[in-house]
This record gives sequence, structure tokens and C-alpha cells, in this order.
Amino acid sequence: ERAQAAPKGGLGFTPIAGSSADKVIVPEGYQARVLLSWGKALFSGVPDLDTGHLDILLTPQGAELQAKQFGYNCDFNGFFSLFQARSFRGLLATNHEFTTEELMFPGWPGDDAPARASFIRQFPAVVSVMKAAHGVSIVEVIRRDDQWHFKQDSPFNRRITGETPMELTGPAAGHDLLQTAADPSGKQVLGTLNNCAGGKTPWGTLLTCEENFDQYFGNLEGLIKQAEEEGENRTELEKYAVFHERLPLPRELSRRGWELVDKRFDVAAHPTEAFRFGWVVEIDPYHPDTVPKKRTALGRFKHEGANVVVAPEGRVAVYSGDDTPFEYIYKFVSDKAYDPQNRSHNLTLLDQGTLYVARFRDDGTGEWLPLVFGQAPLDEDHGFTSQAEVLINTRRAADLVGATPMDRPEDIETNPVNGKIYVPLTNNPWRGAEVNIFNGRRISGAADAKNPRTPNKSGHIIEMTEDSHDPTALTFSWEIFILCGNPSAPEGKFLTSLTSEGRIGPQDTYFGGYPAASRINPLGSPDNLAFDRLGNLWIATDGKPDVLNLSEPINNGLYGVPTAGKNRGWVRQFLSGPKGCEVCGPEFTPDNQTLFVSIQHPGEGGTLSKRISDWPEGKGRPPRPSVLAITKTDGDKIGS
Ligand code: FEO
Ligand code: CA
Ligand code: CA
Ligand code: CA
Repeated sequence: ERAQAAPKGGLGFTPIAGSSADKVIVPEGYQARVLLSWGKALFSGVPDLDTGHLDILLTPQGAELQAKQFGYNCDFNGFFSLFQARSFRGLLATNHEFTTEELMFPGWPGDDAPARASFIRQFPAVVSVMKAAHGVSIVEVIRRDDQWHFKQDSPFNRRITGETPMELTGPAAGHDLLQTAADPSGKQVLGTLNNCAGGKTPWGTLLTCEENFDQYFGNLEGLIKQAEEEGENRTELEKYAVFHERLPLPRELSRRGWELVDKRFDVAAHPTEAFRFGWVVEIDPYHPDTVPKKRTALGRFKHEGANVVVAPEGRVAVYSGDDTPFEYIYKFVSDKAYDPQNRSHNLTLLDQGTLYVARFRDDGTGEWLPLVFGQAPLDEDHGFTSQAEVLINTRRAADLVGATPMDRPEDIETNPVNGKIYVPLTNNPWRGAEVNIFNGRRISGAADAKNPRTPNKSGHIIEMTEDSHDPTALTFSWEIFILCGNPSAPEGKFLTSLTSEGRIGPQDTYFGGYPAASRINPLGSPDNLAFDRLGNLWIATDGKPDVLNLSEPINNGLYGVPTAGKNRGWVRQFLSGPKGCEVCGPEFTPDNQTLFVSIQHPGEGGTLSKRISDWPEGKGRPPRPSVLAITKTDGDKIGS
């Protein structure tokens, strides 16, 4: 096995086999330790959550504690060195994307809407617990005696939740559509929700991204009814309803029923509150007292992540995917240049600039289309009256300019070695289906060169090159880097597509041109990406286990793959997660000796009484979303 390894400029670990075991598996010579788990107290005087007594989560006391404990469903991780580029001490910022009620609240009734409503009315504190378990944790972490620890009560520790005061900034801040009864300024919001992936800016801030925020707002039906009735504000209400339907928001009871307890989540009662979510939020982890900023210039949609690159002349580009079938890929370019000497100036960069959306041509080229009010068709004839409206209803603006619908764009990342941009398209079972109306607009589900497989159950990764390697360029080229799946079990029909080898087909998986399919570890549903210092790509997956057509389904995992050299495309599995989890948030320390990884929703698909996982505690305890710190036993770089 070791003879297969290619440490020089490539990856040297011995791949593991995919597994369905309820545990974390890493290659020989590596150790993966749990650093932080749901319910760990981040402040002194606060007890850790006792997973043997989850009844506390039905009480206001449980909510109060949760707001000071590590949240649920950890996703993105960002490591911010404490003082210079040190790798042994820093702040770890972790997103808490959502809550899995079935595995938190004893007696949670599951999918039946009336039963859920009556449970929430009986135990209204669960809504406060859920809000407190969302958001972000910022925690000081330190490597001592070759192990990572978190520092309880560090002055940097911070919990940001679904109730933390935030500020809306940029061109849409203060606009009528962002005003509510509680906030006539249209600039003050409570909370951030469904923070999936994110990014770090070169000036040391966290970008945390609001993804499936639609899940929290119920009763669109009530708003539509009001809009149908005669009344002096009918035109306004119709506009709200039309904007909400492009997502769409849930018509009736939302999944978690917050609107039953907190009216700001009832769309009929507070029709503009949902416009205050769906943004990229910038947080300064080094200054725990600062107010998080929702940067409206970057547009409003289901942001998976936001990754920043500095262009040669200093302006910054921010790439962001909208994670829904047939949605788009965006890029924001700042007006002003990054100044390494002036942090307060850099903290204003994301408030002024141009938002673009990608159009891909089948010949391997593409262009970035500006979303600018006043440039046809983004005008009054097409329902827009200001740039603020373009930014608030970004999806509609992108439809109008002719953006290319993709197979669920996730965490777009730039390779620090070759400057290319990698776009994971996680999957799209509707690709190739006869679709007419999808998320409030008419669309074709037909396959094309950039989304070539029907149905696309395992997803793919596109490699983009900006023209002149300039992140501010308005044109680019692209090719398919990996068509995920199991190379020995084709999964669907396939249209020829573009790769560096020319057009490929009829095989329906492709691995960067790597010729030895038998050496490839099958993988599906790429989600989060990370690069190590050598430019190897690390891919975390979020798929359903049975899609790969293996004799035994495997859990989600983390995979490493060189992007250059003779081993380009040689996908090898590095980690296998416990049952029911997605693996996310891969993040290297600057020295590449530590890799942080989130294990999100272990045990998903089970309930507290019918568990499929008791990771990491074992002994029949409820599963706990956790962040791992992975190191090499010999202390060398990960992957070496
Ligand atoms: Fe929350 Fe796009 O995965
Ligand atoms: Ca994700
Ligand atoms: Ca990432
Ligand atoms: Ca995902």
C-alpha cells in the first residue's frame, strides 16, 4: 500500500476503505480527537450538557445554558491564529447550521404538523433552545503536549445565536423591505440562522453564510390571502409575497414551528422579517464586543459559503454558491482595494462593489453578468425599482439576466497554488427530469455540458479559470474536474462533457484524467472543499449512503486529491464519519499539521428512542455533533 503513496507534491497517506461503522476512521499514522461537542460549556459557571438528562432542553433554563454552550450541527470551521501566523494557538470559529429536533428533545413528535404544533405549545422553551443552538461559536483553542484543547472562559469566547443583535450594512440597509415593526430603521436584526459554510477574509474576519433560512418562516399562505384582499397596502403585500415565493418560504407551519411562539417568524404578521436573512455575515473574531454585519452588497440567496481572493491590483472577489437545484454561482467584486496596513478600511470593503452571476457556455467558456439596477433587464419594466431590490431578490435578478442553473452549487474555493476556482455541485436528482416550475420560476431540467449527468445523484466538481488569472475578470474558462460516483457502477445517463482531455463520454464518472479507476475511492455529493499548502484538494461529502451502488453503503467522509501532476484526479479516502453524519468544515492550521473537521448531524435518520448512532460518547447516549482535531502521529503535515 505504501508503495502507492506519492508524497512529493502529492498525497502520501494510505487510503482507508469506505465504511458504514458508527465511528471516525482515519489512515494509519493519524489520530482524530474530539475537540468540541454540542453542549460543551464555553464559559465558567456553566455546566456541560448532560446527555443522560435531555429533559432540561424542554425548559427555559436549558435555553439559557445552551446560549453559553457549544451549539448544534457544527459546519464551517475557521482557524484564526492568535498573534501572527501561529499554528498552536488560535480562535476556532464554528458554524451551527441547524438543529435536529428528533435527537435533542425527548418526545419530539416528528413530521406530523398538528402534533409538532401541540408539542411546541406545550414546551415553548424548545424554540429558545433551538435559537440558542444555532449561530456561531468562537472559541480559543490551543495545542499543548501534542493535543488540542479549548480554553473555557477565554476572553475571546463568544456565542452568536438566533437572537444576537446584528447590523445590516451596504446598499440595501435601511430599505423599506428590510424595515419591520420592531425595527423601523431597517438596519438592526436579531440573529443569524442556518449558517452553513463560510470563509475567512485576508484581514482576519469570519464570513458566515445564511443558507436555508426559509425553513424558519411559516405562514406564507396567510400573507398571500391578505394580498388578495382589497386594501390600501395591497400592492406592497403582493410584492412581498412574490419575492418570498421565489425561494419559496413554507406556505403553512414551518419545520420547527418558531412562528407559533415568536411572531417575527410568522410571515403574515411580519412580512418583511424574512428579507433580513439570507445574507453573508461578517464577524470580527478578535473583538468579541463588535456587532456582526450582514453585508447586503453580496446579495440575498441560500449562501453556502463565501470565499475571498485578492486580485493583483488589490480589489477583492468573493465567490458564493446558492445551494438549491438549478440555482446559480455568484461573484462579488469590491470597488475599493485591500490595504494590508489598514484593517479598518478593509472592514468596509464588502459594502461597495458589483455582484455578478455566472453564465456558462457549453464550449468551455463563460461570463460574469453584472446585477446592476438600471441596466436592462433589471429595471422597472421587470419589477425592480432600486439596487436594494436587486440585492434582496437576487435570484429573480439572476433569472432575468440569463444565469446558468447548476446542480446545487456548494462551497466554492480557490486553489492557492494554481489560482483556479473549484466549484462543488453536490447533486441534483431532478437534472434530466421534466421540470416546469421549480422554486417559483419556469425552468428546463435538461442536461448540458456543465451539468452532464441525468439524474445527477453523486454530483461533480468544476474547475474554473478566470481570464488572465484575474479574479476581477468578466470572462472565464471551465472544465469538469471530477464527476463523482463509483467508477465501477454507472449511475445514470451521460452527455459528453469538457475536460482537459477534450470531450469525454460515455463513461459517467471522471477523475481529472486519472487512468486507474480501480484505485479511486468512490465518493458522492461533494460539499465543502479545502486546499492544503501544496494545492491538493480535500473534499468533504454530504450524500445519502446508498447512492454509490456499493455492495455495502458507506458513510460520508473526507477525501484528498491532487489537482496537478501525474496523480491529478487520484481520489483517496482520508476519513470516514459515523452513521448518519455529513462531514464538513475541513480547515488546516497554517503549518498544515492540524486539520479540523466537523461531524455534523451524526445519527440523522434516527430518533432519541430509535438511535442509529451513539457517537462519540457510546453507551447508548444520544449522538453529538462535534469538531475533530486531526494530527499525524509523527507530527508531520497532514497528507505528507
Ligand atoms: Fe448546508 Fe449547502 O449545505
Ligand atoms: Ca454545506
Ligand atoms: Ca471550505
Ligand atoms: Ca450539503
